[in-house]
Amino acid sequence: MMILNNVNKKYNPRTDIEVHALKDIDLKISDGEFVAIMGVSGSGKSTLLHILGCMDRATDGEYILNDYNVKNYGKNALAQIRNEEIGFVLQSFGLMNDKTVYENISYPLIFNPAVKHKQMKSLITKAAEDVGIAELLHKKASELSGGQKQRTAIARAIVNRPKIILADEPTAALDKKTAFEITDLFRALNNKGRTVVIVTHDRAVAEQCDRLIELADGKMISDTPIR
Ligand SMILES: Nc1ncnc2c1ncn2[C@@H]1O[C@H](COP(=O)(O)OP(=O)(O)OP(=O)(O)O)[C@@H](O)[C@H]1O
Ligand SMILES: [Mg+2]
Repeated sequence: MMILNNVNKKYNPRTDIEVHALKDIDLKISDGEFVAIMGVSGSGKSTLLHILGCMDRATDGEYILNDYNVKNYGKNALAQIRNEEIGFVLQSFGLMNDKTVYENISYPLIFNPAVKHKQMKSLITKAAEDVGIAELLHKKASELSGGQKQRTAIARAIVNRPKIILADEPTAALDKKTAFEITDLFRALNNKGRTVVIVTHDRAVAEQCDRLIELADGKMISDTPIR
């Protein structure tokens, strides 16, 4: 569950380069939803996703993530909460190119004290199976296609079994057909009970989701069910 109450985000507040990137956002995303966020460049989509993902904090207003009021947690505690509750997927994949698929997927587990070394292999294998790349585990990331890279990044995002997956333009670097397949993969993960939020410029991607939120100039201008 993610609840934003009257959230504002200002970059460089009270300076002459202040940017008011999010304005009075009220938003509730329940467990199991599949949400798309759209809006022109600079409208605040990534800022919103970063706040939802605890990568950044609101300037004012309140954010409740699964019973945690993020205001009450310091930097390290918040990083721990983020690692356990949230999987983040980026447009540019963010993989270590000279490492194998296996090593890339393992990365978040290294920072999760709850996961014992013995469990790692089965968690990594399961995540790879869930995204359809079980046979690629020993390939280097640099040797993968764009779609395979994004699947690897998604496996890395789900390996800690987070309830929430946030993706910032996850299909922007992919061709149409691969974009459809990757969005379909998010749907499959959603069907397994995860909450999924995707930022996209692509209306075809948004139309595969259940709910569309639109931003303009930092404001939420619409919030509509898709089907
Ligand atoms: N770290 C930052 N410091 C200062 N201003 C920022 C920072 N990040 C974003 N901004 C500004 O905040 C506003 C919203 O940016 P944001 O990245 O959220 O937009 P976006 O909707 O994701 O755009 P895009 O589609 O281009 O990714 C923009 O005016 C941007 O210039
Ligand atoms: Mg962005």
